[in-house]
Amino acid sequence: MKNVLFRRKNIGELLRKKGDIQLKQTLGAFDLVLLGVGAIVGTGIFILPGTVASSHSGPAIVFSFIIAAIVCALAGLCYSEFSSSVPIAGSAYTYGYIVFGELVAWLVGWALVLEYGLAVASVATGWSAYLSALLEGFNITIPKAISGPFNPVEGTYINVPAIVIILAIAFLLTRGIKESAKLNKIMVFIKVGVILLFIGVGIFYVEPANWQPFMPFGISGVMSGAALVFFAYLGFDAVSSAAEEVKNPQRNLPIGIIGSLLICTLLYVLVSLVITGIVSYTHLNVSDPVSFAMQLIHQDWVSGVISLGAVIGMMTVILVMLYGGTRLLYALGRDGLLPKIMCELNKKYKTPIKNTWIFAALTAFCAGVIPLSKLAELVNMGTLLAFTVVSIGVIYLRKDKSIPSGGFKVPFFPVIPICSFLLCLFLISQLSVSTWIACGIWFVFGLFIYFIYGRKHSLMNKE
Ligand code: ALA
Repeated sequence: MKNVLFRRKNIGELLRKKGDIQLKQTLGAFDLVLLGVGAIVGTGIFILPGTVASSHSGPAIVFSFIIAAIVCALAGLCYSEFSSSVPIAGSAYTYGYIVFGELVAWLVGWALVLEYGLAVASVATGWSAYLSALLEGFNITIPKAISGPFNPVEGTYINVPAIVIILAIAFLLTRGIKESAKLNKIMVFIKVGVILLFIGVGIFYVEPANWQPFMPFGISGVMSGAALVFFAYLGFDAVSSAAEEVKNPQRNLPIGIIGSLLICTLLYVLVSLVITGIVSYTHLNVSDPVSFAMQLIHQDWVSGVISLGAVIGMMTVILVMLYGGTRLLYALGRDGLLPKIMCELNKKYKTPIKNTWIFAALTAFCAGVIPLSKLAELVNMGTLLAFTVVSIGVIYLRKDKSIPSGGFKVPFFPVIPICSFLLCLFLISQLSVSTWIACGIWFVFGLFIYFIYGRKHSLMNKE
């Protein structure tokens, strides 16, 4: 029994199976930074500076953003070592399989399903809020009852725009739409452009009095805020998964990861300072705080442009996360840990159409009825758990002699992996009890599936 649960994939074997397909190494440091910023900037920056400042950190949310960025940077370095040593699809799930064996790999995969699924749902709810704000500008109002999570007290029952956008993007994915580098670049410029516009206009309306008190909820508020705004950085692991296609990965990967995190941190800190400087944090608990702040200072056209930029920018994040989730389910199905339907490819489009619709339907349901704050907390929990495994996994990875040498190596080993591991655990401890309980239920359900299904059907049984 023990051996079954801890059976591991062999790196040499995996690399051989992958065959001689050598991807072209074309990406430089700048491309990676763009890739990172494209994958990172989404709902977080347009929503969290308001909601988290109002209920957790106050204006000191800037510190929350900086702490979350440090955690991500350390974990990002560990991710890079894995992805350059084991350049194979599946991210943390595959890494877990190699280092810790099947059960841990399954649990990491299961945590990532939670991350991707609920990230899609949360970005879709943010998208819906900004779409409503945008349409308001044209005097079109989406009825309240169908534009918010299930909350009869507030008069909202279902978030129809969020459901529609998920299903629409799922449709695109089933048709084999590939996020081209060019499209990504355009999106990055739009997203960063509207954020700079906000900062550039808003800075003239800052009233320093609004920054008093700076830390109304104390250090503990800043820390729990960090665990929440962590969400705004998700996506940077996309940089590490491009490891195979990077020129001189030893130099360019860390520049790509740290560079994109630095740019995002700078943007997030500036937006937070400006937004809490324009409006007292006590008024910021709204679903579209960035455009709300612009309306308050009567910059309605800026507010409209920002809403438009946000609506466009968030769509790419939904696309990337939905794509990541379906490919993860595909990998789990291919390895036999989930039913084969998850890895069936459509003959015409060569995409996993069935798993895309199953995944999209579930995420659309969550987006339709669960509020954003709850969704985002669960996403963070799933991701932080995956990060802990990757951080500690690097220490084991180094001991594996079958790994080809020459890839990227985490500096200050083993201090950085250990710090990363501890900081992730710390942020996990800052999440709410209800999130722990919901996550616990998710994992019990996951273990149940593994013992009923995965263990018996795993491809490893044949090896
Ligand atoms: N970092 C992504 C966002 O903020 C998930 O939307």
